[in-house]
Amino acid sequence: MEKKEQLYEGKAKKVYATENPDYVIVSYKDDATAFNGQKKGTIVGKGVINNKMSNYMMQMLEKKGIPTHFVEQLSDRETVVKKVQIVPLEVIIRNVAAGSFSKRYGVAEGTKLAEPTIEFSYKCDELNDPLINNYHVFALNLATKEEVATITNMAFAINEAMKEFFKELKIDLIDFKLEFGRFHDQIVLADEISPDTCRFWEADTWDTTKHVSLDKDRFRRDLGGVEDAYAEIFKRLGIK
Ligand code: TMP
Ligand code: ASP
Repeated sequence: MEKKEQLYEGKAKKVYATENPDYVIVSYKDDATAFNGQKKGTIVGKGVINNKMSNYMMQMLEKKGIPTHFVEQLSDRETVVKKVQIVPLEVIIRNVAAGSFSKRYGVAEGTKLAEPTIEFSYKCDELNDPLINNYHVFALNLATKEEVATITNMAFAINEAMKEFFKELKIDLIDFKLEFGRFHDQIVLADEISPDTCRFWEADTWDTTKHVSLDKDRFRRDLGGVEDAYAEIFKRLGIK
């Protein structure tokens, strides 16, 4: 599959057309941003890790019956994916309180939630991705009721599969963000699953001690050891 013109450049990826109108090529960068692009940096090697890890996760989820955009990995940084129309929602699943949830509701980070939660943010950089509820989604025609139901069911199913998967690697899945796309009237999982988009805590340490983050919080919060955290996740996954 050959790369044609660049269609889009985001904060962490570039997207190129291919000769097939149904497919695009994504190319993962080492660029890192936080707080809607206010904080900028580089995480050396991140593009390679996120590309390979995301592909690995998507293939794992496909085996569990979740349709995804994944088609074929081309190289260390490049992958062919289905050309989807992104549903403009960031879908966040949480198992343990952290980040904006802890701030918003005054719950200490590391508090286990009575059950997993879902929330949607409206994907709009100018508005800083505001939290949005289902009725607002319908009122603004961002997605249909059927699509939101499908996305919700898929997101919780993905959470169950990922929680179990990471537990084996001695990692607790605290929360994560998903994006979905429309591909020929089917909703498929799109974007990426990586330490940029998930909170991974070293398992079984944070009941008694401060948690150890193996994710982008090390960059967001200036904790140091950013590259090492990404490399550690990658190593545990055992991806070549
Ligand atoms: P939050 O606690 O800051 O709302 O983040 C929840 C999860 O979503 C966390 O795993 C990080 C991820 N996330 C993204 O992938 N992109 C974003 O722009 C934000 C704000 C969070
Ligand atoms: N998507 C956010 C930004 O670009 C980064 C994050 O906090 O994950 O600033």
